[in-house]
Amino acid sequence: RTQWKVAVLPGDGIGPEVVAEAVRVLETLAANSRLALELTALPWPATAYHARHGVMMPTDWQQQLAGFDAILLGALGDPGPSSDSERYRLSDGVSLEPLLAIRKGFDQWACERPAAPLKGAPQYLADPRARDIDMLVVRENSEGEYVGQGGRLQRGTPHEVATQIEVFTRFGAERIFRHAFERARQRADCRAKQGRRRQFAAGTESQVCLITKRNALQHWGELYTEVFACVAADYPDVATHHELVDAACMKFVTAPWQFDVVVASNLQGDILTDLAAVLCGGMGVAPSCNINPSDRRRPPMFEPTHGSAPDIAGRGLADPTAMLLTAAMMLDWMGEEDPAAAAAARRLRQAVEADLAVHGGERRSTAEVGDAVLAQLG
Ligand code: IPM
Ligand code: MN
Repeated sequence: RTQWKVAVLPGDGIGPEVVAEAVRVLETLAANSRLALELTALPWPATAYHARHGVMMPTDWQQQLAGFDAILLGALGDPGPSSDSERYRLSDGVSLEPLLAIRKGFDQWACERPAAPLKGAPQYLADPRARDIDMLVVRENSEGEYVGQGGRLQRGTPHEVATQIEVFTRFGAERIFRHAFERARQRADCRAKQGRRRQFAAGTESQVCLITKRNALQHWGELYTEVFACVAADYPDVATHHELVDAACMKFVTAPWQFDVVVASNLQGDILTDLAAVLCGGMGVAPSCNINPSDRRRPPMFEPTHGSAPDIAGRGLADPTAMLLTAAMMLDWMGEEDPAAAAAARRLRQAVEADLAVHGGERRSTAEVGDAVLAQLG
């Protein structure tokens, strides 16, 4: 493909503000290259749409989105007056956070959240080695703690019980681990080309760390450990190690530069990626994507790790950097088929990095950051 149809979903809170900057930048990149993008803004899912229609998305949301090659989303969530089950009501009578509905609907089973500090971004760790952090958290995005099974029994009584079932399949584990190892290899190749090799265990230039809580959650812990070992056997060039999630949190703070690719369950990956984002400058600069690596025809969704930040919404204060780096991840994904997109991804990332290196730390409005990145693009 060389012609890309993108559904742009601004969403709630600061979403529309940061998306506006991404759209300006993407249009400029396309206008000055062979990159062919067709951006279509949709007013859903959003709380404002809910206020008018009583649902977060139209009934045929999945059919509509299936007509696009990719989805670019700002942020979702608004602490409105109604309950979560009302607020997240989808048109089919099901209540589900729309982000989760889209991930599930298109089986976007891998969530990738890279963490590498950019010069000029806030630096929260005092140790200078924190500048060398270069990790990719691969989050299982289709099952585990997020299957939504369980319920509340004897609701409202003193005997009430809530259950929340976690489901882990061998199929789901195997595909996410394989993907993590593939990414580890690609990252090592990329580093070798740039002349910045890393050394892990003897003879290896990349590493995958498995996260579990197998000392307490033994069933899926054992399954993950077993399947991980099987997949690892196919990648003798990649070092492996395991961390319990609590110890991983500690090591993310004390020695994050030791990690390369980290693969974690849905919930543990969710938590670790907020932590990883802060190590590298915070939610204002952390990009993210949700993809289906086994079926590129199913639209992936690109969304920053941050939320809708209702406390600063509507004031032009949000940092669009995470959104711009997320747009670069979208271009990377397109770039696997389209050299013009790959080139645009490089240009965009360079422009964001150059802007941060000069203006990082300054108090700037959302549009000022967008303007400065456009200026960097020439
Ligand atoms: C994220 C968010 C979502 C998640 C929420 C909004 C359901 O925290 O994308 O990290 O937990 O996956
Ligand atoms: Mn999260």
